[in-house]
Amino acid sequence: MTWRGLLSLPRDGRSVVKTLGFLALAGLLGAGAVVGFGLYNVSAKSGHWAGVSWVLHTTFRNAVRLRADATPPEDLDSPAMVALGARHFDSACRTCHASPGRPRSATVRAMVPAPPHVSAIAGQWQPQELHWIVHQGAKMTGMPAWPATRADDVWPVVAFLRAAPDMSAQTYRDLTESPEGQSCAMCHGAGGASGNPQIPRLDILSEAYIAASLRAYRSGARDSGIMAEAMSHVPEAAIPEIAARMAAQVPVGPAQPMNALARRGEALALRGGGGDVPSCAACHGPWDAALNPLFPSLAGQHAPYLRQQLRLWREAARGGGPVAQLMHHAARDLTEEDIAALAAYYASLAPAKLDRTGK
Ligand code: HEC
Ligand code: HEC
Ligand code: HEC
Repeated sequence: MTWRGLLSLPRDGRSVVKTLGFLALAGLLGAGAVVGFGLYNVSAKSGHWAGVSWVLHTTFRNAVRLRADATPPEDLDSPAMVALGARHFDSACRTCHASPGRPRSATVRAMVPAPPHVSAIAGQWQPQELHWIVHQGAKMTGMPAWPATRADDVWPVVAFLRAAPDMSAQTYRDLTESPEGQSCAMCHGAGGASGNPQIPRLDILSEAYIAASLRAYRSGARDSGIMAEAMSHVPEAAIPEIAARMAAQVPVGPAQPMNALARRGEALALRGGGGDVPSCAACHGPWDAALNPLFPSLAGQHAPYLRQQLRLWREAARGGGPVAQLMHHAARDLTEEDIAALAAYYASLAPAKLDRTGK
């Protein structure tokens, strides 16, 4: 049948159905031939037909613009966010996007599409668009999705992408070199006493809690794109030794003077509050004796980290070890003000393991 023949078909319902059926069949046979006989050239050497690159790129850009709607945090461009982002990037992204002051490898440049150099990314996108791309990835390009469900922990990487165009190779090296030659210390600091308020200190935690948390990150029972990446380089069998080494640290540092916000947090932590908020001290101290080694100490933990975790608990999105469900009930009714006050209170206590938090 010719095109002319097709167009001149009488316009009654049965003919239209027949025509559509014919076209669908022809399309299927065509697609079948491309798939079955290998007619489509998948070679990365041949690149795309003229115009196809433009179509793909425009589709990508518009798809991102349509969907990117997350609100950036107020401290997005803080040095602590940039530093954490750089460290995750170094492990998860540098292979493809290179690093400030260093070129991409010849092999990466031969990818179709080629991953852009890290310094050339941020100028093209708004922060919420970068956030969407890093969380969702891009199908059929090699650009991976974030290895966690939650999306708030993508922001440090966005912060780093924004800082990268003006960053020197030396600054990048300073940020990503570990003080002890170990990847954990790069982020958590020497002896686990992290000085970065976005990264938890580990020196206040017990061996049992650290081991349970590392297993939970490894299995995905605790949702974190950053720690999932870190733990994917650590064999299960190494966890007991790492937990023992980190828990052997003795936390040091003074208590911080309490402001009005921290005092409100203290009242709430010791006595519980409105709605169904229990006393936090019943499980987290301050205490003089060991109770359950799976309960984390919060004394001297960084306030931004505590706030982030409490919001995750409230949304039932934190996950954790074998007794994590105990926390869901505790955080369900917390307001933003409660969270700020509780974080300020626990951050102001002298850093200590749980059985030494008592006054
Ligand atoms: C295996 C290689 C690979 C890895 C690993 C990778 N990417 Fe990509 N990325 C790509 C490719 C390829 C593209 C280009 C996609 C396109 O142009 O359609 C891309 C695109 C992007 C873009 C969009 C930039 C633009 O202008 O097109 C961002 C942002 C990005 N990657 C960030 C990251 C971050 C952050 C990480 C680490 C968490 C990462 N990528 C890990 C390959 C990779
Ligand atoms: C790229 C930075 C980075 C690296 C590398 C890293 N961590 Fe983490 N770690 C984090 C961040 C950020 C969190 C908070 C994650 C969350 O929201 O659950 C965290 C959380 C943790 C926790 C839970 C702390 C708590 O209070 O519940 C433990 C334990 C831990 N990390 C141990 C390790 C160990 C052991 C290594 C090395 C194998 C390591 N981390 C490597 C950034 C890092
Ligand atoms: C019934 C015991 C219980 C009560 C009450 C409780 N918690 Fe928890 N909390 C836990 C347990 C258990 C975990 C660790 C769960 C896991 O990761 O497996 C935890 C974890 C946390 C964490 C994460 C710490 C970290 O290092 O990641 C924060 C923050 C926290 N609780 C704050 C609070 C606050 C604030 C209150 C009071 C409103 C409270 N908790 C009440 C048992 C409790």
